[in-house]
Amino acid sequence: MARPTTSFTCTSCGAVHKKWAGRCDACGAWNSIVEEAPLSAAPSAKSLGAARGKTVPLSDLSTGEPEPPRAASGMAELDRVLGGGLVPASAILVGGDPGIGKSTLLLQAAASFARAGLRCLYVSGEEAGAQVRMRAERLGLADAPVKLANETNLRDILTTLDAERPDLVIIDSIQTMWADMVDSAPGSVAQVRAAAHELTAFAKRRGCAVMMVGHVTKEGQIAGPRVVEHMVDTVLYFEGERGHQFRILRAVKNRFGPADEIGVFEMTGEGLAEVANPSALFLSDRGDPAPGAAVFAGIEGTRPVLTEIQALVVPSPLGTPRRTAVGLDTGRLSTTLAVLEARCGIPFAGLDVFLNVAGGLKVTEPAADLAVAAALLSAREDAALPQQTVLFGEISLSGALRPVGQTENRLKEARKLGFTQAIAPARSKLGVSTGVEVRQMTDLAAFVGQIFGAG
Ligand code: TYD
Ligand code: MG
Repeated sequence: MARPTTSFTCTSCGAVHKKWAGRCDACGAWNSIVEEAPLSAAPSAKSLGAARGKTVPLSDLSTGEPEPPRAASGMAELDRVLGGGLVPASAILVGGDPGIGKSTLLLQAAASFARAGLRCLYVSGEEAGAQVRMRAERLGLADAPVKLANETNLRDILTTLDAERPDLVIIDSIQTMWADMVDSAPGSVAQVRAAAHELTAFAKRRGCAVMMVGHVTKEGQIAGPRVVEHMVDTVLYFEGERGHQFRILRAVKNRFGPADEIGVFEMTGEGLAEVANPSALFLSDRGDPAPGAAVFAGIEGTRPVLTEIQALVVPSPLGTPRRTAVGLDTGRLSTTLAVLEARCGIPFAGLDVFLNVAGGLKVTEPAADLAVAAALLSAREDAALPQQTVLFGEISLSGALRPVGQTENRLKEARKLGFTQAIAPARSKLGVSTGVEVRQMTDLAAFVGQIFGAG
């Protein structure tokens, strides 16, 4: 028998290497390779081929089984992010920075589901039972029929779950779980992978939904191999800026609902409060229109959300001016700056550019391009944009404005919040009249000409 040797696994993509390297050949990530003890139970390819397995039952596509009913927690923001409630037997991974509020969110979720009639079990591997109980007390959840366990041994947890048969189990966190058949330390790639695999298999076998907390690395990915994200049905990220009280729960993958759906919460002294109207919240600090501010009518998942995009443009003392973006992709900012320079003749050379999405939301929609360009121009020219105006539209590299989806929803939301005008790409599908006056423009140069004079 071959002597088991340690292997080196990439924490980013899960590729296994014979020796350590600074960069993973498979995915190109730097400093992601860690040493791993061998998987003692891993069957070799030869043994799989030699011994015949049993035939698996096959079915056709129209088995006609009705979709199992989803369970609603009563926390509307959470239910929507899950795609309309919790699907039985689903495995859900909730990622987020330490201290962002994952344990708080999941304790509140467990209590809500328990009050809605589900048998819920909360397994904490991080905090002592007394700590969790104290938090429940403070959040006013002490009377909710949630069972609590303080354990990290996966084998014991699974045996307990087999006996208890809960409808929902919460594992806080996957990095603290320890599977005794894997010969490496808790939190290592092999342990996280084994724990996630066992728990996902348990979910499918017993029809019990499993929600796992996953810590996030400095680079913003769930610590542990990417394969964990592929294993589960749903991946949610709980995000927010440190100084802000707003928290956003975002579905980045969902086999049972739309991805990119968001739920908005506010961290208060009594735990997380749901925010039913995020647009009002994100625009609440707005004073009079100021240079450098543009209101973007965006869509997050199935819901329109208005946000303010803020820009600051100042002469740079540096040889290479700064390009800083918070809540927006820096690459996208560079592209917009390049298009403004090449297609509209407005250079940003020698100027530091800072861009920010107010409220701590992360905007990923290309439809934000026009609002970004407008904020940049407004900051550079030191001229405020027209009052009560929202903007949306994608900018192509040629400088043309491309129509985006869900125009009608964007305009309705704008109307609801008191906006009377919108600037949108030409050929936008306006739908029914929303009471918002829409100025349609074919390209960025036309926008510059009409809003800022000759530019
Ligand atoms: P926690 O849920 O422990 O974060 P995570 O599990 O993601 O590490 O949340 C910790 C933070 O939340 C902590 O800084 C305090 C804050 N918090 C409140 O502001 N109000 C509350 O009611 C609770 C429970 C926590
Ligand atoms: Mg925690």
